[in-house]
Amino acid sequence: MLQFKLDHASFEHVKADVAVVFVVEKNLNHAWVHHKEVLETFGYEGEGVFFDQAHKRLYVGVAHNDVHLFREAACLALKALKKYHFKSLKVGLYAAKNATEGECPLGQTMLAILTGLQFGLYQYEAYKSKKEPIHLKEVHVALGEASQFEHEVKTLERNLEKLLHKAHVLVEHVNLARDLVNTPPDVANAPYIAKKAQDLAEKNGLECFVHGEDYLKEKGMNAYLAVNRASANPPRLVHVVYKPKNAKKKIVLVGKGLTYDCGGLSIKTAEYMITMKADKGGACAVLATINALAHLKVDAEVHAVLGLAENMISGNSYRPDDILISKEGKTIEVRNTDAEGRLVLADCLSFAQDLEPDILVDFATLTGACVVGLGQYTSGIMGNNEELKTRFEHAALKSGELVAKLPFNRHLRKLLDSKMADIANITPVRYGGAVTAGLFLNEFIREEYKDKWLHIDIAGPVYIEKDWDVNTPGASGAGVRMCVEFVLESLK
Ligand code: BES
Ligand code: ZN
Ligand code: ZN
Repeated sequence: MLQFKLDHASFEHVKADVAVVFVVEKNLNHAWVHHKEVLETFGYEGEGVFFDQAHKRLYVGVAHNDVHLFREAACLALKALKKYHFKSLKVGLYAAKNATEGECPLGQTMLAILTGLQFGLYQYEAYKSKKEPIHLKEVHVALGEASQFEHEVKTLERNLEKLLHKAHVLVEHVNLARDLVNTPPDVANAPYIAKKAQDLAEKNGLECFVHGEDYLKEKGMNAYLAVNRASANPPRLVHVVYKPKNAKKKIVLVGKGLTYDCGGLSIKTAEYMITMKADKGGACAVLATINALAHLKVDAEVHAVLGLAENMISGNSYRPDDILISKEGKTIEVRNTDAEGRLVLADCLSFAQDLEPDILVDFATLTGACVVGLGQYTSGIMGNNEELKTRFEHAALKSGELVAKLPFNRHLRKLLDSKMADIANITPVRYGGAVTAGLFLNEFIREEYKDKWLHIDIAGPVYIEKDWDVNTPGASGAGVRMCVEFVLESLK
C-alpha cells in the first residue's frame, strides 16, 4: 500500500523522485507541463502516458474532465512507473467537473486519483517464482499554489483523514476480493474460502457462522446440495454479520460462490471452462464488502451470505431431468446443470429472507447472456423496484463501476414454465438469458421482499483478459466498490 503525505508547498517545490502531471483535455498549456520541446520531439499531444525521463515527469492524458477518467489515468500512470526504482511521487490538486462528493469536487477527484494510483500497484503473483519488487512507497500531494481551490483545500484538509481512509479501505478490499478470486480452484475450495471468512471476521470483530452439509440438509436446501453433489469438496454456507450499535437498517448481501463451474453433466466446452474459478466472484465480493463496511464503521447491520459450492461431474452428479425441492418448497425441473448458480442462490435467498432484511442484494456471475447483452465491462441490475434499481445504479456509477438496468417482463417469465415441476431452471430459447435467470431468482423472493431485493449479474466485469480502467488481467473485484457506495448512499 502507498503512503499518502500532504505537503503545503507548491507542486514545483514538493520533493519527490518523480512527478505525475495530468494533461486534461489535451491542454498542454498548464503550468505543470514543462519542457514542451521534449513532448514535441516525441509527438506527445496529451493522449496516454509519456515519460520525460530526463526531467522525471510523467504525463498522463485525461480525455475529459471527468472524475472516472482521472482514476483510470492515475492507475495508468502508476502502471507505467512501477518498473522504475522511484520511491516517491508527487501529484497536484485537480477537481473534475462531474465530481460531487460532499459538495467537494476536489475531495472526490483526489479520492479517485489516490485510489487509481493504488490500483496501479496490484499484481497477483502468489504463484510466480520471480516476484516483481515494488519500490514506490510514498505519494506526496501538493496543496500549495492552489488559490483557485482555497476554500476546497480547507474542506479537503478537514476531510482528508476520512478520504484517505476510504481510499485505503476500498483498494484493500477490492484487492482482497481479487486475491480470493484469483486463487486457483484446487486451493480455493469452499472450506478454504470459509476459513478465510472466519479469519477475516476474527480480525475485524465480525461474527461468522460456517454451515456444512448437515445443516443444508436439515434446512431443506436441496437445490444447493444437488449442485455440489459431484464435488470432492464439501459445500459451505458462510454467514458473516456486522452488527454495530444504533444500526439504521438491516442489509443482507448474498453471493454466488461456485469455486469451480465446469458445467456439470451439461458440460462446458474447453474454452468456456477457462476462468470458471471466477464463478465465486459474487461470494468473494460480498465477503470483501462486509469487511470494508466494518472498517468504514457504517451505521447499518450488514449480513453477508456466501453460497460456496463446486459444480463438477461424477457418478453422483445431479442430472438434467432431476426435480429438486428447494428450501422455499418450490420444485425445480433441472434441464441444464450449467444453470447451477440460480439453484444455489434460490436456497441462499431463502436463507437470507429468514434474516428479515430491509434491503437484500445478491451478486452473482450468473449468465454469459449478461456479458453478451451488456459487454464485458458492465454488470446488470435486476429487480422489481424501479426506484431501488435506480438508486443502486447511481451509487454504482459514482463508485466507478459500470452497471445497467435490465427489465423483467411477463413474457420472459412464461418461458420458465415447466411441465414437470413448479419451474424449470432454463428456458427453451436462449434470448434474454440474463433476465430469465433474474426472473428465476424472483420466484424465490417472498411477496414482502419483492420490492426490497436486487440481483446484480457481475459475469461481465468479474474477470479481466486485457488491462482496462483500474483493472489488471485476472480478477477485478467487481461488485465491491458499487456495493460499498450503495450502502453508504442508502444511509444518507
Ligand atoms: N457461471 C456461468 C455464467 C458465466 C459465464 C459467468 C461467463 C462468467 C462468465 C453460469 O453458471 C452458466 O454457466 N450459465 C449458463 C446458463 C445457461 C445454461 C442457461 C450460461 O450463461 O451459458
Ligand atoms: Zn454454470
Ligand atoms: Zn456458474
